[in-house]
Amino acid sequence: VVDIDVTGRSVLLTGVDRTTEAVVRRLVREGATVTLVAAHPPTALVDMAARGQLTLVVEPGPYQAYDLVIGPRADVPAPAAPQARGPEGTGRVTLVGGGPGDPGLITVAGLEAIRTADVVVTDRLAPLECLAEAPPGATIIDVAKIPRGEHTSQERINAVLLEHARAGRHVVRFKGGDSYVFGRGGEEVVALTAAGIAVTVIPGVTSSIAAPELAGIPVTHRGVSQGFTVVSGHVPPGDPRSTLDWTSLARTRTTLVVLMGVHTLARICAELLARGMDPATPAATIADAGLPSQRAVRSTLSGLPDRVAEAGIGAPAVTVIGGVAAETLPGTPPASTSAQD
Ligand SMILES: C[S@@+](CC[C@H](N)C(=O)[O-])C[C@H]1O[C@@H](n2cnc3c(N)ncnc32)[C@H](O)[C@@H]1O
Repeated sequence: VVDIDVTGRSVLLTGVDRTTEAVVRRLVREGATVTLVAAHPPTALVDMAARGQLTLVVEPGPYQAYDLVIGPRADVPAPAAPQARGPEGTGRVTLVGGGPGDPGLITVAGLEAIRTADVVVTDRLAPLECLAEAPPGATIIDVAKIPRGEHTSQERINAVLLEHARAGRHVVRFKGGDSYVFGRGGEEVVALTAAGIAVTVIPGVTSSIAAPELAGIPVTHRGVSQGFTVVSGHVPPGDPRSTLDWTSLARTRTTLVVLMGVHTLARICAELLARGMDPATPAATIADAGLPSQRAVRSTLSGLPDRVAEAGIGAPAVTVIGGVAAETLPGTPPASTSAQD
């Protein structure tokens, strides 16, 4: 895969093995148009397909239609049952925050944890190319949660982590951004430590800062904003499950950063306007930050929902509201230092 220039080429992958998630991400990053034949693809790849980054098919069609056809790697079969590396009781879990999606934005410590993993339990927003760094015998388990779609319950994820750690394995729990920023990392650590499992947490670059930054927006800026407030928009203002004080948020005079808020964007902006925020306040939404599909829409608080809808922006995206959203610093994503050689 790696020695061929795939830019602008159509590539067919004819099956799934434990390297497929990393290979697909790498091919897409290098500019290929990727089609995958899979009856039961991992959830992270279902999500990529839903986001228009990959075509999933059950039958391949004529091979001549593609520039390149790649079969599953025979040398990396998925181990049927992961082998214990140490005696029972010596297992451990490392939570790795993988950053927003570019493989160059994982930490050195995070990558090192993956390189020593027996099992990697991964989410869809983690930099999946880094999975290629797991040892050949490691098991990759996809427990991605798609908003309002396919998902593995948190109870099930905790049980998977416990099961493998109890069997003496080094389990890496691999997440997007930082594990403690709307990542449910805290719940996993509580469950594991209550069961007597040793846990290490490696911080990650959170999308709440990185997504604006990659689009040229600093969350604080001298003379513009002296702070930033990060909130979840997964439930709209007024919803009984919302604990946010929107009157205070409209008055903070800090940058407001909203995660998980594409679906609820119109209601959030309307609420801030109703609570007195200036309609001309600069605002921006950045989707797929750190990925080749990264795009940003800039507008005002009153104009943003329409602009985002017109641009067809979907999750995952971060919205920034405040004076800094008018800044246009150089924000080009870093040159990808891919984890796979
Ligand atoms: C469940 S939260 C996890 C946040 C993550 N722990 C972090 O620190 O970035 C998922 C939300 O993070 C944001 N997000 C994560 N990765 C992103 C990316 N690459 N580009 C834009 N937004 C992203 C989106 O708001 C998405 O809905």
